[in-house]
Amino acid sequence: MDPTTNLSDPSDIRLALEELRSLAPAKIGASGSVAELDGVAAEVTGKASPIAAGRRSLGRIAPDERRELGRAINDVAQELDAAIAARRAVLEIREASAALAGDTVDVTLPGRVPRRGSLHIVNQVMDEIVDIFVAMGYTVATGPEAETDYYNFTALNFAPSHPSRLESDTLYLDYGDVPEDVLLRTHTSPMQARYMEAHEPPVYLVVPGRVFRRDQLDATHSPVFHQVEGLAVDHDITFGDLKGVLDHFAKEFLGPNTRTKFIPHYFPFTEPSAEMHVYYNGGWMELLGCGMVNPAVFEYAGYDPDDVTGFAFGVGADRLAMVRHGITEIRHLLDTDQRILEQYR
Ligand code: PHE
Repeated sequence: MDPTTNLSDPSDIRLALEELRSLAPAKIGASGSVAELDGVAAEVTGKASPIAAGRRSLGRIAPDERRELGRAINDVAQELDAAIAARRAVLEIREASAALAGDTVDVTLPGRVPRRGSLHIVNQVMDEIVDIFVAMGYTVATGPEAETDYYNFTALNFAPSHPSRLESDTLYLDYGDVPEDVLLRTHTSPMQARYMEAHEPPVYLVVPGRVFRRDQLDATHSPVFHQVEGLAVDHDITFGDLKGVLDHFAKEFLGPNTRTKFIPHYFPFTEPSAEMHVYYNGGWMELLGCGMVNPAVFEYAGYDPDDVTGFAFGVGADRLAMVRHGITEIRHLLDTDQRILEQYR
Protein backbone atom coordinates (compact mmCIF):
# COMPACT_ATOMS: atom_id res chain seq x y z
CA MET A 1 0.00 0.00 0.00
CA ASP A 2 1.14 3.54 -0.78
CA PRO A 3 2.78 4.86 2.40
CA THR A 4 1.12 8.28 1.98
CA THR A 5 -2.30 6.74 2.76
CA ASN A 6 -1.11 6.06 6.26
CA LEU A 7 0.29 9.46 6.99
CA SER A 8 -0.65 10.44 10.51
CA ASP A 9 2.14 12.62 11.83
CA PRO A 10 1.48 16.32 11.03
CA SER A 11 5.07 16.97 10.06
CA ASP A 12 5.04 14.00 7.66
CA ILE A 13 1.89 15.38 6.13
CA ARG A 14 3.42 18.81 5.67
CA LEU A 15 6.42 17.24 4.03
CA ALA A 16 4.26 15.20 1.67
CA LEU A 17 2.16 18.29 0.82
CA GLU A 18 5.28 20.30 0.01
CA GLU A 19 6.56 17.57 -2.24
CA LEU A 20 3.20 17.36 -3.95
CA ARG A 21 3.04 21.10 -4.42
CA SER A 22 6.46 21.16 -6.07
CA LEU A 23 6.03 18.09 -8.32
CA ALA A 24 2.33 18.03 -9.25
CA PRO A 25 2.18 21.18 -11.44
CA ALA A 26 4.80 19.73 -13.81
CA LYS A 27 2.83 16.48 -14.12
CA ILE A 28 -0.40 18.39 -14.74
CA GLY A 29 1.29 20.59 -17.33
CA ALA A 30 2.78 17.55 -19.08
CA SER A 31 -0.60 15.80 -19.59
CA GLY A 32 -1.12 15.53 -23.33
CA SER A 33 -4.85 14.69 -23.35
CA VAL A 34 -7.96 15.12 -21.22
CA ALA A 35 -7.87 11.38 -20.51
CA GLU A 36 -4.27 11.57 -19.33
CA LEU A 37 -5.09 14.63 -17.22
CA ASP A 38 -7.92 12.70 -15.53
CA GLY A 39 -5.37 10.09 -14.48
CA VAL A 40 -2.96 12.71 -13.11
CA ALA A 41 -5.80 14.49 -11.27
CA ALA A 42 -6.85 11.23 -9.59
CA GLU A 43 -3.25 10.66 -8.56
CA VAL A 44 -2.47 14.13 -7.17
CA THR A 45 -5.82 15.05 -5.55
CA GLY A 46 -7.64 11.67 -5.31
CA LYS A 47 -8.14 9.17 -2.49
CA ALA A 48 -4.52 8.00 -2.41
CA SER A 49 -3.02 11.52 -2.48
CA PRO A 50 -1.39 13.29 0.51
CA ILE A 51 -4.35 15.68 0.39
CA ALA A 52 -6.86 12.90 1.13
CA ALA A 53 -4.53 11.22 3.62
CA GLY A 54 -3.97 14.54 5.41
CA ARG A 55 -7.72 15.15 5.68
CA ARG A 56 -8.22 11.65 7.05
CA SER A 57 -5.62 12.33 9.76
CA LEU A 58 -7.11 15.66 10.92
CA GLY A 59 -9.44 14.01 13.46
CA ARG A 60 -6.54 12.43 15.22
CA ILE A 61 -4.41 15.52 15.80
CA ALA A 62 -4.48 18.28 18.38
CA PRO A 63 -7.15 20.98 17.70
CA ASP A 64 -4.75 23.94 17.58
CA GLU A 65 -2.57 22.21 14.99
CA ARG A 66 -5.61 20.88 13.18
CA ARG A 67 -6.84 24.28 11.96
CA GLU A 68 -3.48 25.28 10.58
CA LEU A 69 -2.86 21.94 8.88
CA GLY A 70 -6.40 21.91 7.49
CA ARG A 71 -5.83 25.31 5.91
CA ALA A 72 -2.49 24.16 4.44
CA ILE A 73 -4.18 21.08 2.93
CA ASN A 74 -6.96 23.21 1.44
CA ASP A 75 -4.45 25.70 -0.01
CA VAL A 76 -2.59 22.92 -1.83
CA ALA A 77 -5.83 21.29 -2.94
CA GLN A 78 -7.17 24.59 -4.37
CA GLU A 79 -3.89 25.33 -6.08
CA LEU A 80 -3.83 21.93 -7.74
CA ASP A 81 -7.55 22.02 -8.67
CA ALA A 82 -6.99 25.39 -10.34
CA ALA A 83 -3.96 24.07 -12.24
CA ILE A 84 -5.93 20.98 -13.34
CA ALA A 85 -8.89 23.12 -14.49
CA ALA A 86 -6.62 25.45 -16.46
CA ARG A 87 -4.88 22.52 -18.15
CA ARG A 88 -8.24 20.87 -18.86
CA ALA A 89 -9.49 23.99 -20.64
CA VAL A 90 -6.40 24.06 -22.85
CA LEU A 91 -6.64 20.34 -23.68
CA GLU A 92 -10.38 20.46 -24.39
CA ILE A 93 -9.98 23.27 -26.90
CA ARG A 94 -7.06 21.49 -28.53
CA GLU A 95 -9.01 18.22 -28.84
CA ALA A 96 -12.14 19.91 -30.14
CA SER A 97 -10.26 21.73 -32.88
CA ALA A 98 -8.38 18.56 -33.82
CA ALA A 99 -11.74 16.78 -34.21
CA LEU A 100 -13.04 19.65 -36.35
CA ALA A 101 -9.94 19.62 -38.54
CA GLY A 102 -10.38 15.88 -39.13
CA ASP A 103 -13.97 16.52 -40.13
CA THR A 104 -13.45 19.03 -42.90
CA VAL A 105 -14.40 18.40 -46.51
CA ASP A 106 -11.98 19.45 -49.18
CA VAL A 107 -14.33 21.07 -51.63
CA THR A 108 -11.56 21.44 -54.20
CA LEU A 109 -11.26 17.65 -54.68
CA PRO A 110 -12.89 16.31 -57.86
CA GLY A 111 -16.33 14.79 -57.14
CA ARG A 112 -17.28 11.17 -57.58
CA VAL A 113 -19.38 11.15 -60.75
CA PRO A 114 -22.47 8.90 -60.36
CA ARG A 115 -23.06 6.30 -63.08
CA ARG A 116 -25.62 7.66 -65.49
CA GLY A 117 -28.18 5.38 -67.04
CA SER A 118 -30.19 6.03 -70.19
CA LEU A 119 -33.52 5.09 -71.68
CA HIS A 120 -33.61 1.84 -73.61
CA ILE A 121 -33.37 2.45 -77.35
CA VAL A 122 -36.90 1.11 -77.85
CA ASN A 123 -38.23 3.59 -75.30
CA GLN A 124 -36.27 6.33 -77.05
CA VAL A 125 -37.96 5.41 -80.33
CA MET A 126 -41.43 5.31 -78.74
CA ASP A 127 -40.83 8.71 -77.11
CA GLU A 128 -39.77 10.19 -80.45
CA ILE A 129 -42.81 8.80 -82.25
CA VAL A 130 -45.10 10.14 -79.53
CA ASP A 131 -43.38 13.55 -79.67
CA ILE A 132 -43.96 13.86 -83.42
CA PHE A 133 -47.71 13.36 -82.92
CA VAL A 134 -47.90 15.52 -79.80
CA ALA A 135 -46.46 18.31 -81.97
CA MET A 136 -49.51 17.83 -84.24
CA GLY A 137 -51.88 18.18 -81.27
CA TYR A 138 -52.40 14.53 -80.34
CA THR A 139 -52.87 13.48 -76.70
CA VAL A 140 -51.13 10.49 -75.10
CA ALA A 141 -52.77 7.64 -73.18
CA THR A 142 -51.69 4.20 -72.06
CA GLY A 143 -53.75 1.09 -71.43
CA PRO A 144 -53.55 -2.26 -69.62
CA GLU A 145 -51.21 -5.00 -70.83
CA ALA A 146 -53.56 -7.64 -69.40
CA GLU A 147 -56.65 -7.07 -71.53
CA THR A 148 -60.03 -8.68 -72.01
CA ASP A 149 -61.04 -10.63 -75.08
CA TYR A 150 -63.73 -7.98 -75.61
CA TYR A 151 -61.38 -5.00 -76.05
CA ASN A 152 -58.57 -6.91 -77.75
CA PHE A 153 -60.84 -8.57 -80.34
CA THR A 154 -64.63 -8.16 -80.16
CA ALA A 155 -64.82 -4.36 -79.93
CA LEU A 156 -62.35 -4.22 -82.82
CA ASN A 157 -64.67 -6.21 -85.09
CA PHE A 158 -62.74 -9.48 -85.00
CA ALA A 159 -65.08 -12.36 -85.95
CA PRO A 160 -65.54 -14.97 -83.21
CA SER A 161 -63.60 -17.45 -85.37
CA HIS A 162 -60.73 -15.11 -86.30
CA PRO A 163 -57.44 -17.03 -86.20
CA SER A 164 -55.75 -14.42 -83.98
CA ARG A 165 -57.97 -15.60 -81.15
CA LEU A 166 -56.43 -19.06 -81.34
CA GLU A 167 -54.29 -20.15 -78.46
CA SER A 168 -51.48 -20.69 -80.96
CA ASP A 169 -51.27 -16.91 -81.48
CA THR A 170 -52.47 -15.30 -78.24
CA LEU A 171 -51.18 -15.69 -74.69
CA TYR A 172 -54.19 -16.24 -72.43
CA LEU A 173 -54.12 -15.62 -68.68
CA ASP A 174 -55.71 -18.04 -66.25
CA TYR A 175 -57.78 -15.30 -64.58
CA GLY A 176 -61.46 -14.84 -63.84
CA ASP A 177 -64.44 -17.16 -64.27
CA VAL A 178 -64.71 -17.27 -68.04
CA PRO A 179 -61.98 -19.32 -69.77
CA GLU A 180 -59.88 -17.41 -72.34
CA ASP A 181 -61.46 -14.11 -71.32
CA VAL A 182 -58.29 -12.37 -70.10
CA LEU A 183 -55.15 -12.25 -72.23
CA LEU A 184 -51.96 -10.32 -72.82
CA ARG A 185 -52.93 -7.74 -75.44
CA THR A 186 -51.68 -8.66 -78.88
CA HIS A 187 -51.66 -5.03 -80.03
CA THR A 188 -52.26 -1.52 -78.67
CA SER A 189 -55.51 -1.21 -80.67
CA PRO A 190 -57.77 -2.08 -77.68
CA MET A 191 -57.09 1.48 -76.49
CA GLN A 192 -58.99 2.76 -79.55
CA ALA A 193 -62.14 1.16 -78.12
CA ARG A 194 -61.42 2.06 -74.49
CA TYR A 195 -60.64 5.69 -75.31
CA MET A 196 -63.67 6.24 -77.55
CA GLU A 197 -65.95 4.70 -74.91
CA ALA A 198 -64.68 7.22 -72.39
CA HIS A 199 -64.37 10.35 -74.56
CA GLU A 200 -66.56 12.23 -76.99
CA PRO A 201 -65.18 13.00 -80.46
CA PRO A 202 -63.02 14.58 -81.75
CA VAL A 203 -60.15 12.24 -80.81
CA TYR A 204 -56.47 12.74 -81.63
CA LEU A 205 -54.66 10.07 -79.65
CA VAL A 206 -51.38 8.15 -79.49
CA VAL A 207 -50.81 5.10 -77.26
CA PRO A 208 -47.31 3.76 -76.70
CA GLY A 209 -47.14 0.32 -75.15
CA ARG A 210 -45.90 -3.23 -74.83
CA VAL A 211 -47.68 -6.05 -76.64
CA PHE A 212 -47.41 -9.83 -76.58
CA ARG A 213 -47.75 -12.71 -79.03
CA ARG A 214 -47.16 -16.39 -78.78
CA ASP A 215 -43.90 -16.43 -80.75
CA GLN A 216 -40.72 -18.33 -80.00
CA LEU A 217 -37.80 -16.00 -79.37
CA ASP A 218 -35.43 -16.09 -82.33
CA ALA A 219 -33.37 -13.59 -84.32
CA THR A 220 -36.44 -11.85 -85.77
CA HIS A 221 -39.31 -12.79 -83.42
CA SER A 222 -39.95 -11.89 -79.81
CA PRO A 223 -43.02 -12.73 -77.70
CA VAL A 224 -42.79 -9.16 -76.32
CA PHE A 225 -42.55 -6.11 -78.51
CA HIS A 226 -43.69 -2.49 -78.66
CA GLN A 227 -46.16 -0.45 -80.64
CA VAL A 228 -47.40 3.10 -80.82
CA GLU A 229 -51.10 3.21 -81.71
CA GLY A 230 -52.65 6.26 -83.30
CA LEU A 231 -56.29 7.29 -83.67
CA ALA A 232 -57.83 10.37 -85.25
CA VAL A 233 -61.62 10.76 -85.23
CA ASP A 234 -63.41 13.90 -86.36
CA HIS A 235 -65.91 15.07 -88.93
CA ASP A 236 -64.90 14.49 -92.56
CA ILE A 237 -61.53 12.81 -91.97
CA THR A 238 -60.42 11.20 -95.23
CA PHE A 239 -57.88 8.69 -96.46
CA GLY A 240 -55.99 11.73 -97.79
CA ASP A 241 -55.62 12.96 -94.19
CA LEU A 242 -54.28 9.54 -93.21
CA LYS A 243 -51.68 9.62 -95.98
CA GLY A 244 -50.65 13.19 -95.27
CA VAL A 245 -50.24 12.68 -91.54
CA LEU A 246 -48.35 9.38 -91.84
CA ASP A 247 -46.10 10.65 -94.64
CA HIS A 248 -45.28 13.68 -92.45
CA PHE A 249 -44.52 11.30 -89.57
CA ALA A 250 -42.13 9.22 -91.74
CA LYS A 251 -40.28 12.37 -92.85
CA GLU A 252 -40.01 13.67 -89.29
CA PHE A 253 -38.73 10.35 -88.01
CA LEU A 254 -36.42 9.23 -90.83
CA GLY A 255 -35.56 12.48 -92.60
CA PRO A 256 -37.22 15.00 -94.96
CA ASN A 257 -36.41 13.07 -98.14
CA THR A 258 -38.02 9.83 -96.97
CA ARG A 259 -40.37 8.28 -99.56
CA THR A 260 -43.48 6.39 -98.51
CA LYS A 261 -45.93 4.07 -100.27
CA PHE A 262 -49.23 2.56 -99.20
CA ILE A 263 -50.02 -1.06 -99.98
CA PRO A 264 -53.52 -2.55 -99.56
CA HIS A 265 -53.89 -4.78 -96.53
CA TYR A 266 -56.57 -6.19 -94.26
CA PHE A 267 -57.42 -5.48 -90.62
CA PRO A 268 -60.88 -6.19 -89.18
CA PHE A 269 -60.99 -2.78 -87.45
CA THR A 270 -60.11 -0.61 -90.45
CA GLU A 271 -61.66 -0.41 -93.90
CA PRO A 272 -59.93 0.22 -96.19
CA SER A 273 -56.66 -0.95 -94.62
CA ALA A 274 -53.06 -0.47 -95.72
CA GLU A 275 -49.44 -0.93 -94.81
CA MET A 276 -47.16 2.06 -95.14
CA HIS A 277 -43.70 1.21 -96.42
CA VAL A 278 -40.72 3.57 -96.40
CA TYR A 279 -37.67 3.59 -98.61
CA TYR A 280 -34.81 3.21 -96.18
CA ASN A 281 -31.21 1.99 -96.51
CA GLY A 282 -31.68 1.02 -100.16
CA GLY A 283 -34.90 -0.95 -99.80
CA TRP A 284 -38.61 -0.74 -98.97
CA MET A 285 -39.42 -1.45 -95.34
CA GLU A 286 -42.83 -1.90 -93.74
CA LEU A 287 -43.24 0.79 -91.08
CA LEU A 288 -46.84 0.52 -89.90
CA GLY A 289 -50.35 -0.81 -90.42
CA CYS A 290 -53.16 1.67 -90.89
CA GLY A 291 -56.61 2.32 -92.29
CA MET A 292 -59.90 4.16 -91.98
CA VAL A 293 -61.72 3.23 -88.77
CA ASN A 294 -64.32 0.58 -89.55
CA PRO A 295 -67.87 1.88 -88.83
CA ALA A 296 -68.47 -1.30 -86.81
CA VAL A 297 -65.76 -0.16 -84.38
CA PHE A 298 -67.51 3.21 -83.95
CA GLU A 299 -70.74 1.37 -83.19
CA TYR A 300 -69.13 -0.82 -80.52
CA ALA A 301 -67.67 2.34 -78.92
CA GLY A 302 -71.01 4.18 -79.00
CA TYR A 303 -70.08 6.69 -81.73
CA ASP A 304 -72.46 7.43 -84.60
CA PRO A 305 -70.76 6.18 -87.82
CA ASP A 306 -72.86 8.64 -89.83
CA ASP A 307 -71.49 11.53 -87.78
CA VAL A 308 -67.74 10.81 -87.62
CA THR A 309 -64.94 9.30 -89.66
CA GLY A 310 -61.38 8.56 -88.67
CA PHE A 311 -58.13 6.78 -89.29
CA ALA A 312 -55.94 4.57 -87.13
CA PHE A 313 -52.44 3.21 -87.32
CA GLY A 314 -50.03 1.04 -85.38
CA VAL A 315 -46.24 1.50 -85.59
CA GLY A 316 -43.84 -1.20 -84.40
CA ALA A 317 -41.07 0.41 -82.36
CA ASP A 318 -38.61 -2.48 -82.00
CA ARG A 319 -37.66 -2.80 -85.66
CA LEU A 320 -37.18 0.97 -85.92
CA ALA A 321 -34.74 0.84 -83.01
CA MET A 322 -32.95 -2.04 -84.73
CA VAL A 323 -32.58 -0.40 -88.14
CA ARG A 324 -31.53 2.88 -86.55
CA HIS A 325 -28.72 1.18 -84.62
CA GLY A 326 -27.85 -1.48 -87.17
CA ILE A 327 -28.95 -4.31 -84.87
CA THR A 328 -29.85 -7.53 -86.69
CA GLU A 329 -30.88 -9.68 -83.70
CA ILE A 330 -34.09 -8.72 -81.90
CA ARG A 331 -32.76 -10.66 -78.92
CA HIS A 332 -30.22 -7.90 -78.26
CA LEU A 333 -33.12 -5.57 -77.41
CA LEU A 334 -34.00 -7.85 -74.50
CA ASP A 335 -30.42 -8.28 -73.38
CA THR A 336 -29.58 -7.03 -69.91
CA ASP A 337 -25.85 -7.13 -70.63
CA GLN A 338 -24.46 -3.70 -69.74
CA ARG A 339 -21.72 -4.03 -72.33
CA ILE A 340 -24.38 -4.18 -75.05
CA LEU A 341 -26.76 -1.60 -73.58
CA GLU A 342 -23.97 0.95 -73.04
CA GLN A 343 -23.28 1.03 -76.77
CA TYR A 344 -26.67 2.62 -77.44
CA ARG A 345 -27.13 5.77 -75.41
N1 PHE B 1 -53.05 -3.44 -84.59
C1 PHE B 1 -52.41 -3.69 -85.85
C2 PHE B 1 -51.27 -4.70 -85.65
O1 PHE B 1 -50.91 -4.95 -84.52
C3 PHE B 1 -51.85 -2.44 -86.44
C4 PHE B 1 -52.93 -1.46 -86.82
C5 PHE B 1 -53.34 -0.49 -85.92
C6 PHE B 1 -53.51 -1.49 -88.07
C7 PHE B 1 -54.31 0.42 -86.26
C8 PHE B 1 -54.49 -0.60 -88.44
C9 PHE B 1 -54.87 0.36 -87.53
O2 PHE B 1 -50.72 -5.21 -86.61
